[in-house]
Amino acid sequence: MTVVELGPERCDALLRFFGDLPEGDLTFIKEEVTDPETVRSWATGESAGGRWVAVEGDEVTGYVAVRPLPGWSDHVGEIRLVVAPSSRGSGLGRELARQALVGAVASGLSKLVVEVVAEQGPALALFGDLGFTGEALLKDHIRDRSGELRDLMVLAHHVSDTWAGMDSVGIADELGAPAG
Ligand SMILES: CC(C)(COP(=O)(O)OP(=O)(O)OC[C@H]1O[C@@H](n2cnc3c(N)ncnc32)[C@H](O)[C@@H]1OP(=O)(O)O)[C@@H](O)C(=O)NCCC(=O)NCCS
Repeated sequence: MTVVELGPERCDALLRFFGDLPEGDLTFIKEEVTDPETVRSWATGESAGGRWVAVEGDEVTGYVAVRPLPGWSDHVGEIRLVVAPSSRGSGLGRELARQALVGAVASGLSKLVVEVVAEQGPALALFGDLGFTGEALLKDHIRDRSGELRDLMVLAHHVSDTWAGMDSVGIADELGAPAG
């Protein structure tokens, strides 16, 4: 398994990946992921943030994107992450989230946020380890597939405050940051 930046040659595999995901997981991506035109435009458009896929052979097994927020929040990037259900629990989510953090910092974003369902243990664990902390709790903010109301947590990572934390996960080195 390797993590690579999304390029045009991976778009068909990415569309297959999205097509196979349970509907509930697709809601985390917040974009028209089943529309081929939309997905192909991601691979050619130039923008801050970035998109990466985990690949195994010809197949995509995970996806992560950093999307800058509009207007006066364009220094903030929102992370959207999803791993194929059959590939979960083996560290792929962690690796994709780490890649997103490195890419976002390299492209100059100074704050990152991610929305997770409050009781989503794996997501809270992996973002917590990358220096994200809870910044907002939105009560009854989403409905799950059975129509039940769920709380949504917004986790945030302030880049300038957390160089020490990034150092501890080896990210500062990767970015060529000054030691200390
Ligand atoms: C959240 C998600 C991306 C995690 O992907 P993953 O590949 O399973 O993640 P990892 O294997 O890197 O696991 C990360 C941590 O989660 C925890 N974890 C993983 N699987 C778990 C499970 N079945 N039960 C409890 N905790 C689990 C572990 O603490 C793990 O840390 P470890 O490496 O120390 O064991 C995946 O569950 C997913 O796609 N969920 C749906 C979309 C979503 O919620 N996205 C996040 C918000 S955008």
